[in-house]
Amino acid sequence: MDQLTIIQPDDWHLHLRDEGALATTVPAAARCFGRGIVMPNLVPPVRNVAAATAYRERILAARPENSEWQPLMVLYLTDNTSADDIRAAHACAFVHACKYYPAGATTNSDSGVTDLERLDEVFETMQELGVVLQMHGEVTDPDIDIFDREAVFIDRHLVRIREKFPALKMVLEHITTEQGATFVRNSEGPLAASITPQHLLYNRNDMLVGGIRPHLFCLPILKRNRHQTALIEAATSGDSRFFLGTDSAPHPRHAKENACGCAGCYSHHAAIELYAEAFDRAGALHQLEGFASRYGADFYNLAYNRRKITLNRDPWTVPERIDYDGGELIPLAAGQALNWRLQN
Ligand code: DOR
Ligand code: ZN
Repeated sequence: MDQLTIIQPDDWHLHLRDEGALATTVPAAARCFGRGIVMPNLVPPVRNVAAATAYRERILAARPENSEWQPLMVLYLTDNTSADDIRAAHACAFVHACKYYPAGATTNSDSGVTDLERLDEVFETMQELGVVLQMHGEVTDPDIDIFDREAVFIDRHLVRIREKFPALKMVLEHITTEQGATFVRNSEGPLAASITPQHLLYNRNDMLVGGIRPHLFCLPILKRNRHQTALIEAATSGDSRFFLGTDSAPHPRHAKENACGCAGCYSHHAAIELYAEAFDRAGALHQLEGFASRYGADFYNLAYNRRKITLNRDPWTVPERIDYDGGELIPLAAGQALNWRLQN
């Protein structure tokens, strides 16, 4: 197959940042996606509808002329989020979910939740109203090895939350393990998972063998090969509980190439092409449309995009660097060859 036409995809998890960064991130999102779920981990975070409204306006102001790409907004849960905040989110046409970050787990998560059990009333209200809970599924306990943090989160917290709130709509974001994929597959309630391109294309050897590659450092961290294989299987299986979420998370080059480098991979320069590469390698290009363009929309109760996009087998080389907010960033797969190219 040398050409693939699919319904225009959506990104169910991305970071646009703010202000000067939007000039890079918003056109990149609009390049191939119809909609994007915009993560709320700004400083300060997007905690309520007023902040989401203002952020959305700034994003829309950065949208290229004639683009129909839509930002879908998310509220950031804190220890102080109330049931009223959830009711306000539910009443707002452009807020589509609330995001749980464990305090201290990742970039800009300092205002995250310190004790999950404190959120029971919030989860109760979300369940009742059908508001989607997006989980950064890692424990932050310093005793837990960083490679085990997702699996331990599932055992310690996810099992309890699913039992207590069986009808709560939940996305386990950017799953990175066999345990994550298996847990979602074996669940009966409305539980889905997003999967990033970096977790499909790379494992921890790519990040650590022969030298540390900081541009592959993201959280949850890349795992061993067995987990990469399980994620490829889940993404390409046609199971509608697994869908596209890039977690594209730009950081300036100096913040990544640093003695204490930031977590996050930027993939929006070539998001759908990177997924096409992973699906092609697995012999599963026929499953790309469901994963990229239908299953997420079904989960979020949204219509499919009306446009289509076409990918051609037309090898090209990913740029080594991209201008970003007065500096530069190093994109995922920088300098590497990709086989699939989006037709303009
Ligand atoms: O690697 C990551 N980067 N993981 C996250 O959860 C946050 C993100 C970011 O905002 O940079
Ligand atoms: Zn993220």
